[in-house]
Amino acid sequence: TERTLSIIKPDATKRNLTGKINAKFEDAGLRIVAQKRIHLTKAQAGKFYEVHASRPFYDELCEFMASGPVVVQVLEGEGAIAKNREVMGATNPKDSAAGTIRAEFAESVGENSVHGSDAPETAKDEISYFFAGMELVG
Ligand code: GTP
Ligand code: MG
Repeated sequence: TERTLSIIKPDATKRNLTGKINAKFEDAGLRIVAQKRIHLTKAQAGKFYEVHASRPFYDELCEFMASGPVVVQVLEGEGAIAKNREVMGATNPKDSAAGTIRAEFAESVGENSVHGSDAPETAKDEISYFFAGMELVG
């Protein structure tokens, strides 16, 4: 089984959607094996999204991710990385398939309710950015 890092973003915590989003993960067979609510500083958000540093939306993205609490979580399951991205839907809610988290909840391409790791190597790095090994309870 595989693990991936998920973040419920500030637009979603603000609208009290964490339970509805977690239900989508669990309904898809993903298990939440670690979870905590934190408020990132802009610097911490910037480090997390460092790979996007040269993109025009980077500053806006970091401001947004530090604008309110987030829920960081580790999801576990068969093919968890791909499964999570399927449940999330496309980055831009205009393109997300019906029934996906972003189709139902995202407000815009930037304020799109959730993050999910995109590959095994990034999942490993992103999980260790937020969690110590003993915080993961399978
Ligand atoms: P993540 O799971 O958050 O990484 O989303 P993703 O993998 O579907 O998208 P990507 O990695 O390409 O972009 C990372 C994040 O940057 C997105 O989730 C958005 O929050 C934000 N983002 C991407 N494109 C735009 C854009 O055109 N404008 C703004 N404001 N934000 C964007
Ligand atoms: Mg991404």
